[in-house]
Amino acid sequence: MTPIAANEIRLMEGACQLAARLLAHVGSYVRVGVTTEELDRIAEDYTLSHGAKSAPLGYHGFPKSICTSVNACICHGVPDKTPLREGDILNIDVTVIKDGYHGDTSGMFFVGRVSDKAREICDVAHNAMLKGIEEVGPSSTTGDIGFAVSKYVTKRGYWVVKEIGGHGIGKVFHDDPWVPSYGKKGKGDKLVPWTCITVEPMINETAASIREVSIPNSTIKYYETGDKTLSAQYEHTVLITDSGHQVLTLQ
Ligand code: MF3
Ligand code: CO
Ligand code: CO
Repeated sequence: MTPIAANEIRLMEGACQLAARLLAHVGSYVRVGVTTEELDRIAEDYTLSHGAKSAPLGYHGFPKSICTSVNACICHGVPDKTPLREGDILNIDVTVIKDGYHGDTSGMFFVGRVSDKAREICDVAHNAMLKGIEEVGPSSTTGDIGFAVSKYVTKRGYWVVKEIGGHGIGKVFHDDPWVPSYGKKGKGDKLVPWTCITVEPMINETAASIREVSIPNSTIKYYETGDKTLSAQYEHTVLITDSGHQVLTLQ
């Protein structure tokens, strides 16, 4: 990963701020009866009207502008014509390209009233992301992040997804390093000042193995829990600075 030139940091900040506003905008349309395809259209319109492009659209053949992962879907859910139902939880994951830079963020949304169990897994996923972000700094490693995430999640009685994780990001959508949700302190890759990574732990209710599902005409797969129990995820894009970090996709 190449550090971002000092005079271009503001461009990366701009892309990430647009991603944050887009996520809130799309999320405000979540309600019973809305389809994820309608949310996709709302996202695409918002992105284009703000002078940006949706990074997922056409990425390795991915057919839509955002990912919508409902209930047992872990990530990369493809928006479709299924109406959202009372009690569903869903992750909306948006990535925009603006001025040549990528901003990537996701969060969980509730459809109507949801169960305590559903609220809890979302709370665990959000705190797990925050625990990971706390570790980000110029003398940390990806192992420090993964260790903090998995320690917290395990303590709360949940399971981290090991197969998928965060990534370097900037001019490139998915760059080095790989940021797993498990690891050992001091191990993995050293973080580089003035580069960005995402912290995006995926949390499952059970230890069931995950199922990989093909998406037609795409090499991207989507993933779901093997036993159809819930999964939750939050994601921020984070800049590593000389003294610590800055969360670029905070609204
Ligand atoms: N935004 C996802 C991530 O956090 C990647 C989506 S790629 C797609 O890395 F092709 F599935 F859209
Ligand atoms: Co990401
Ligand atoms: Co994302």
